[in-house]
Amino acid sequence: MSNQYILALDQGTTSSRAIVFDNQARPVAQAQRTIRQSYPQPGWVEHDGVEIWESQLAAVNEALRSGQIKPEQIGSIGITNQRETVLIWDRTSGEPIHPAIVWQDRRTASHCEALKERGLAKLITDKTGLLIDAYFSATKISWILDHVEGAREKASRGELLAGTMDTWLIWKLTKGQVHATDVTNASRTMLFNLDTRDWDEELLSELQIPRCILPAICMSGHFYGMTDPQWLNGVSVPIHAVLGDQQAALFGHTCLEAGSAKNTYGTGCFILMNTGSERVTSSHGLLTTVAWGMGDEMYYALEGSVFVAGAAIQWLEEGLGWIDEPAQSEWMATQVPTSDGVVVVPAFTGLGAPYWDMYARGAIFGLTRGTNSNHIVRATLESLAYQSRDVINAMEKDAGMPLQELRVDGGAVSNDLLMQFQADILGTVVTRTENGETTALGAALLAGLVSEVWSKEQLKQFNSAQRMFQPLMDEAKKEELYHVWQDAVRRTMGWEQ
Ligand code: G3P
Repeated sequence: MSNQYILALDQGTTSSRAIVFDNQARPVAQAQRTIRQSYPQPGWVEHDGVEIWESQLAAVNEALRSGQIKPEQIGSIGITNQRETVLIWDRTSGEPIHPAIVWQDRRTASHCEALKERGLAKLITDKTGLLIDAYFSATKISWILDHVEGAREKASRGELLAGTMDTWLIWKLTKGQVHATDVTNASRTMLFNLDTRDWDEELLSELQIPRCILPAICMSGHFYGMTDPQWLNGVSVPIHAVLGDQQAALFGHTCLEAGSAKNTYGTGCFILMNTGSERVTSSHGLLTTVAWGMGDEMYYALEGSVFVAGAAIQWLEEGLGWIDEPAQSEWMATQVPTSDGVVVVPAFTGLGAPYWDMYARGAIFGLTRGTNSNHIVRATLESLAYQSRDVINAMEKDAGMPLQELRVDGGAVSNDLLMQFQADILGTVVTRTENGETTALGAALLAGLVSEVWSKEQLKQFNSAQRMFQPLMDEAKKEELYHVWQDAVRRTMGWEQ
């Protein structure tokens, strides 16, 4: 039987998913397992490393079973994952020495403040493209080494291994044969030097992280190794692609040219713009990150993260109890012609890019006696579009080029009213693509490219537009609304100080 399928593993923050794609990049089978979130202290978020592995393996087996696909029909594997989340395990036993510290975890904020006080901000941005923040893996690794008894000594003797979730899955899938990561995941650690394409000695020493615990860094499209026969019914399958989930979504949208961009509307919004082989340094609060690497070529992206997007719709449901499910927000919003001057700034956990204000808090402006819940729901939806415009405006300034089209994925993109408002407030075409599984698709497309199932020229055909939203709003109206939004944001900043 010919090897005709590609298996994508999508290890995300809330679930481990497995999706099988055929040789036309169509999803033919899938399964998912939810993973437990644990919050041992305020601001702390942990995952169980063993559960991550077991849930991922269970999802793979269930996907194959449900699609009646035999492991020998899988020609290639692509892995994509929640980024920054980090685990340390014992090299010999394979047991994690501590739960994985998740990207959202803020426990190392004071360590980050100390790094800033030591004057390292510019050095770190110059080398890594990132801003000093607890979001990234480096301070999380230091924290585990400092807080697990004997960890530092074991690490210095080379008895421990560290890695983001891609590394952990590769290591498990190859039964400890391969300890590796890809350039996109490495670029989220705050230890990866974008110029040398290697772990940076100076940063390793500043953060007291021994190099020997870190994985080898490979290109995203690369032969990583074969899976151990134990996992797939006696069959070994090559792993050909590894990349962080937001970069995979960029690839899945086939945003392959410089200037193309995507927005994933999840809990937050992750907006990435491809800047080609050019590394653009942001002067407007965005991150420089690796988009993907293949062969000798590394491509870059500018990234802006909005912390609260889908979470604002969740707030309407769980916090206010005004809707029973997210889809109902669209129905309520259509009950009024406009938000009638109401502006919701959902800065529930501060503001991310491009403002980076930890002390901002949410607010509702413009209430009148005529305001009802429909206006507030509509304004909440609009806040996703306004926040996205904030980031995209910053990107356009940094990249020195206007955005031609925004490709979108994630839960909220089924909301037509929001997508139309997004196109209106940006003044740019918003394209909803056919394949909703853009992240897994990106990993599969890259694996298929490496294993020569398709060529780079063919990629574009695999995620065509399902609907394009054209900007319809009058220019003066658009700018007037946006001006009011910006004024509202300014008023929320520094609230907790
Ligand atoms: O940077 C964090 C991001 O990779 C998480 O993505 O989709 O797992 O929430 P997701």
